[in-house]
Amino acid sequence: MVRETPKGASIAHSGEDARLFAPSAARNRDVLAELMAKVAPPSRDALEIASGTGQHIVAFAANCPDLLWHPTDVAKDRLSSIDAYVAEAGLTNVAPAQLLNATQSGWSQNFNDLSFVFLANLLHLISETEANTLITEAAQTLTPDGKLLIYGPFMRDGQLTSEGDARFHESLKEQDPEIGYKELSLVISWASEQKMAHIETHTMPANNLALEFVKTV
Ligand SMILES: C[S@@+](CC[C@H](N)C(=O)[O-])C[C@H]1O[C@@H](n2cnc3c(N)ncnc32)[C@H](O)[C@@H]1O
Repeated sequence: MVRETPKGASIAHSGEDARLFAPSAARNRDVLAELMAKVAPPSRDALEIASGTGQHIVAFAANCPDLLWHPTDVAKDRLSSIDAYVAEAGLTNVAPAQLLNATQSGWSQNFNDLSFVFLANLLHLISETEANTLITEAAQTLTPDGKLLIYGPFMRDGQLTSEGDARFHESLKEQDPEIGYKELSLVISWASEQKMAHIETHTMPANNLALEFVKTV
């Protein structure tokens, strides 16, 4: 089952070709690409879960040219958009986009020996059980010393950090009571259960965080 994304939580406009344009992805693309260059392992295979339009992965692939990037998403129109962005950028270190429902148990069997997994802006749109499944599966795909980076908005000690975040969290819960911002410590504990040590919390613009984990075994 794929949970329906709440209205307004994943806005992407279509243009003249397959490329979709998400204003939010355009806003945070450069800071994420800068962070990626600092934290991503230098080589081997990198998986992006819920890649969205593809605006992000072309910037990441340009900034980390020795990684082979694997974009994925659960929405077919996003896959075409990702491939169109990659073709337009002329990048050779991005594989064709693949369909992946990251909240379904067992998906990690299709990926192995990865050095890096990245996820942006999905945990608040899925349930706690689904978020735990996603992290569990992501951990299975990584080799020892492989890294997981999770970016997005989080609840911290039960608190939302701005009025805008509180409103967004409430609007998500109104549309689907099982979703909403996840507690930071809970996400860290799910990762820890999968032998993913939390090594840093990066403070990002607009009250977002990027949580960096490394696989210990
Ligand atoms: C808010 S958008 C974020 C896109 C991109 N990561 C970004 O930050 O711009 C959420 C994305 O998650 C995808 N998605 C939703 N449920 C998913 C699932 N179960 N597995 C994988 N992707 C999913 C949607 O299709 C959409 O592209």
